[in-house]
Amino acid sequence: MAAIETKRLSKFYGAHRGIEQITLSVERGEVFGFLGPNGAGKTTLIRTLLDLLHPTSGSATVLGLDSHRDRIEIRKRIGNLAGDFSWQPKRTGSELLSLIAGLRGVTEMDYAQALAERFNADLTRPLGQLSRGNRQKIGLLQALFHRPDLLILDEPTGGLDPLMQEEFMAVVSEERERGATVFLSSHELDEVQRMCDRAGIIRDGRLVAVEDIGELMSKSDRKVSFTLAETDIDPGEFRDLDGVGNFSADGPEISFTHRGPIDPVVKLLSRHTVVELDLTHPSLEELFLAYYTGGRSTGDRPDSGDGDEAAG
Ligand SMILES: Nc1ncnc2c1ncn2[C@@H]1O[C@H](COP(=O)(O)OP(=O)(O)OP(=O)(O)O)[C@@H](O)[C@H]1O
Ligand SMILES: [Mg+2]
Repeated sequence: MAAIETKRLSKFYGAHRGIEQITLSVERGEVFGFLGPNGAGKTTLIRTLLDLLHPTSGSATVLGLDSHRDRIEIRKRIGNLAGDFSWQPKRTGSELLSLIAGLRGVTEMDYAQALAERFNADLTRPLGQLSRGNRQKIGLLQALFHRPDLLILDEPTGGLDPLMQEEFMAVVSEERERGATVFLSSHELDEVQRMCDRAGIIRDGRLVAVEDIGELMSKSDRKVSFTLAETDIDPGEFRDLDGVGNFSADGPEISFTHRGPIDPVVKLLSRHTVVELDLTHPSLEELFLAYYTGGRSTGDRPDSGDGDEAAG
C-alpha cells in the first residue's frame, strides 16, 4: 500500500486552476521531493491531501485512508508542516507542543526536547516574537516530535539558515532510516538532490515529471576537464574513447562530456602527467531547470543532450 496515492486529483478555486489531474503514488519509506515554480500548485496539492481543501474532482488516499472521509485518523498519524506556518502569536512553542501532544495522545516528550536542542529552538517565547526562521523551527518540531509514519512538509527549510538546513537534512535521513515516508515541497534543488529518492515536478498545476534521482544522476553525462604537463600530446586518443562528446582541446587543456564507465578515461590519464583534473556531474538544477521553463514535457527524458549522439 502506497503512503500517498492520488488519482486524477484536481482543485480549482472557482475558475482559477490550483492543480489539475494529478496522479501520483508515493511509496512507503520513500523520501519524495516536490518541485515547481511559484504558483505551480504545490501548496494546493498538500492542502488537498490534508482535506484542508476539498478536491474539485479525483481522489486521494493517505496511508491507505481516504483523504476526506478519514481525515481525523490521517491527522493523528502524520506530521504536517504548512508552508506559512503560524499559530496563535501570544502562545509559546511549548504550549503548542503540549496541545498537540494531548490531541495525539503523546506522553513521551524526550524527542521533542532533543529536537529543540538540535535546532536551537526557543520554546519559551511567544511565537509572534520569533523571527521567521525561529518560528519555522517550532513548525518543524510540531511536525516531527511524535515520530509519525508520514511527514507532509510544505517548504520545510524555508527561512532556515544553512546550518539549520543541514540539521533538517540529517533529521530527514534519520526518518528514512526509521522507515518513515517523507513528502516535501521545496525550491532548493540541491537539497532535494541530497535528500530525496524521487522528485516530482509540477508546472501550471500539472505533474510534468517524476524522476528517480539516483537514476537521473547516473544516466547524465559527466563533465571531464584536465590539464596535462606534456605539450606534445595527441588529443585524438581522448577524443576516440567510448562515450566522449563535446570534445575540445586547447594544447594540454582538454575537456569533454563522458557517459559510461569512467575507468578507461582514468587508465589513459594515468599514462600522462596530470596537472589539473575536474570531474563533475551536472546538478539536479541543470537537469531540472528545463522543466521549470517549459522546455520539457511529460515523456521527455532530461538527459544532457550534448553527448555524442552516435555513441549512444
Ligand atoms: N485561495 C485561492 N484562491 C484562488 N486561487 C488560489 C488560491 N490559493 C491558490 N490559488 C492559485 O492556485 C495556484 C497554485 O497555488 P499554490 O499556492 O498551490 O502554488 P505553490 O506551488 O505552492 O507556489 P509557491 O512556490 O509560491 O508556494 C496559483 O495559481 C494560485 O494563484
Ligand atoms: Mg506554496
